[in-house]
Amino acid sequence: MDPKITGLLPGLTEAGQAHLLRFWDNLSPDERTALNQELQMLDFQEINGFFKRAMESFSCTKNEKMDARMEPVPQEVLGSVTRDKGSLKRWEEKGLECISQSKVAVLLLAGGQGTRLGVSYPKGMYDVGLPSHKTLFQIQAERILKLQHLAEEKNKSKCIIPWYIMTSGRTMESTKDFFSRLNYFGLDKKNIVFFQQGMLPAMDYDGKIILESKSKLSMAPDGNGGLYRALGNQGILDDMQRRGIDFIHVYCVDNILVKVADPAFVGFCVEKDADCGAKVVEKSNPTEAVGVVCKVDGLYQVVEYSEITLATAEKRSLDGRLMFNAGNVANHFFRFSFLKDIVETYEPKLEHHVARKKIPFVDPQGQLITPDKPNGIKMEKFVFDIFQFAKTFAVYEVLREDEFSPLKNADRQDGKDTPTTARHALMSLHHRWVLNAGGHFIDESGARVPAIPSLKDGTDLPIKCEISPLVSYGGEGLEALVKDRDFHPTLIIDENGVHELVKNGV
Ligand code: UD1
Repeated sequence: MDPKITGLLPGLTEAGQAHLLRFWDNLSPDERTALNQELQMLDFQEINGFFKRAMESFSCTKNEKMDARMEPVPQEVLGSVTRDKGSLKRWEEKGLECISQSKVAVLLLAGGQGTRLGVSYPKGMYDVGLPSHKTLFQIQAERILKLQHLAEEKNKSKCIIPWYIMTSGRTMESTKDFFSRLNYFGLDKKNIVFFQQGMLPAMDYDGKIILESKSKLSMAPDGNGGLYRALGNQGILDDMQRRGIDFIHVYCVDNILVKVADPAFVGFCVEKDADCGAKVVEKSNPTEAVGVVCKVDGLYQVVEYSEITLATAEKRSLDGRLMFNAGNVANHFFRFSFLKDIVETYEPKLEHHVARKKIPFVDPQGQLITPDKPNGIKMEKFVFDIFQFAKTFAVYEVLREDEFSPLKNADRQDGKDTPTTARHALMSLHHRWVLNAGGHFIDESGARVPAIPSLKDGTDLPIKCEISPLVSYGGEGLEALVKDRDFHPTLIIDENGVHELVKNGV
């Protein structure tokens, strides 16, 4: 046997994973090198330990009744953009002040594989078909740029919002390449820090690592909770410390309406002296695929949509609302000191969640098999698994139509969370911004379109209207551009001014 591999064999045998070398003798030199490299990177005893613990807690939680252990979020930790209108301005000013002192960073979780959307490239590169054809990455970058300007104007000091972007082995190169090709969307390259989360092998139910080809292990990112390990081992925490970051807004790539570094959310959490905070929207119905923020055994937690029973999801309070209605929009606030404690102390205590999957594999004869039912597991940590360690926790409720429209699935008739629903949500928000700033829309005959358009021809297409984040972060500053003016859709407001595109021009 190859000398390179003989060093690995005893370790693999001891860990019960020697089958990974089953095809060694039939591999080409290149395949051998690749397999050897992949194996050298992994700590098999550690992986076996993850498997054992994950499976133990998986079988426990399956049998235990979650219902009795769950409690809704208590009122005293809650803030709401609708019920606490009087405090909003104060929170926003506090947040802007922190931003202007360059104490706030944003951290994007972009290591997912976009399996449901069905694209082979990172989701942030997706163009949902807006008139501008901006991608999710560009929209987020421009919101950061605008917010820096707003904070600078307000507090008269130059500031930076560093952008940390977590990718995975599958998304790193294409993400970096995309940013570089598009010149970092006008942001300073120095303030965008890419880093990579870990990967873990898929395993069968007996704890054997699955081979996806004769020379390749079936590997997947270790979940968005892989963040904490990566923050430590990729030097990101140190980078934050060097830059004097005190507060971090962590968010997921797929929400087209995301308010990156939302000053009101940051200000609210800072005022609450929170270690950690979560933004939520009211869950729309019991089976909506969002996690719920709640307490389990007295500790804050998100119970994922895949982990809650229908009976619990359907429970209602006396006012008729869902009892567990704090829908997680995957926007979290962390105090730097808390994040540091997590990375240095608590991360190893987090257990992986188990997802049963259909995982293609090569059988002992070397045949590639695509199973039609789950044949193994992937192990993932979740970003919110650390809520339980927060000494002070805050929950901030926002309006779905203003802040939450995730892109999860490919387009199909009546589909949910698709490119079409994301595009419509953004245009409908911008339509309302124009109306609130005193502008109007008119149709081909010059008649004003009612603010709430009636269903025309059986469709409920939104008015085509897009406002560049470089012009407005959250609807501010539009009066001078639109007040008392009539516009034909498609209306575009960007750094070059106000434009109406002729019909069918987009
Ligand atoms: C996530 C939340 C869920 C919430 C919903 C709202 C988690 C675990 N679940 O669910 O509670 O209600 O969003 O839209 O956060 N990612 C990585 N690395 C990975 C896997 C995912 O960075 O290994 C990133 C993805 O790129 C994405 C985000 O995490 O930005 C969320 O991943 P996704 O799988 O879409 O989560 P959901 O199941 O939709």
